[in-house]
Amino acid sequence: MKKNFIVANWKLNGNIQTISNFLNHLRLKISLYLQNNTVVIAPSTIYLERVYNYIKDMNIFLGAQNVDINTQGAFTGETSILMLKDIGAKYVIVGHSERRFLHNENNELISKKFGLVKSLNLIPILCIGETETQKKKNKTKEILTNQLNVIFQDFGEKAFINSIIAYEPIWSIGTGISADPIYVQSIHKFIKDYINKYNSSDIEKIIVQYGGSVNSKNAKNFLEQPDIDGLLIGSASLMYEEFLKILKISNDILCK
Ligand code: PGA
Repeated sequence: MKKNFIVANWKLNGNIQTISNFLNHLRLKISLYLQNNTVVIAPSTIYLERVYNYIKDMNIFLGAQNVDINTQGAFTGETSILMLKDIGAKYVIVGHSERRFLHNENNELISKKFGLVKSLNLIPILCIGETETQKKKNKTKEILTNQLNVIFQDFGEKAFINSIIAYEPIWSIGTGISADPIYVQSIHKFIKDYINKYNSSDIEKIIVQYGGSVNSKNAKNFLEQPDIDGLLIGSASLMYEEFLKILKISNDILCK
């Protein structure tokens, strides 16, 4: 049965008190919304283990926001995939646009991270998306295929099995300007068809979620589209009331 894949990306936000408060409220209601949702919480690295200890009996999963390409050694300040696995992470976001732009991560580096996550049997959430200028120049599909092709080149035609794709138009992240759900639907279909060209038997398994200024007012419009399989939520995932509302909307859509 289809479930929506809903990820809370907390970015560089929260502290011990706000996180405890959020998770205590989530605990009270979460079981009502898990029938049709797979839920992942991705806190800042320093709180990963704390969050894991809260959620491990809640049937929701831990995600990391980033990983280094090295697994151990003299790499001051980094976090390795072995450590993420060790403390209970199941998913790792790779290629978020904030990492691409603020930390100069290019497609090649992101592909390495993607492969590393998979090699340890964790699940990468690969973020792809175009800038506003690229969209205006009608280059969206070219940008997305470039972002996917590097992964195909590195890992072959089965590269996207057991992975998640998050389509996040960069102009919609953190701006309050969400993309048009019909436009997003067409892009998700394009992404699935593109991957399917190489790997037709696995198309059903490809999860493509949308991210970019999602909130409880617009979530339904996205999730009603047939190829939008979930949401990657930033600022609206910091407030438990808002996040629970979105989980309810998502759950109810698939109950119909
Ligand atoms: P936003 O962030 O919901 O605050 O736009 C989404 C994301 O960056 O994943």
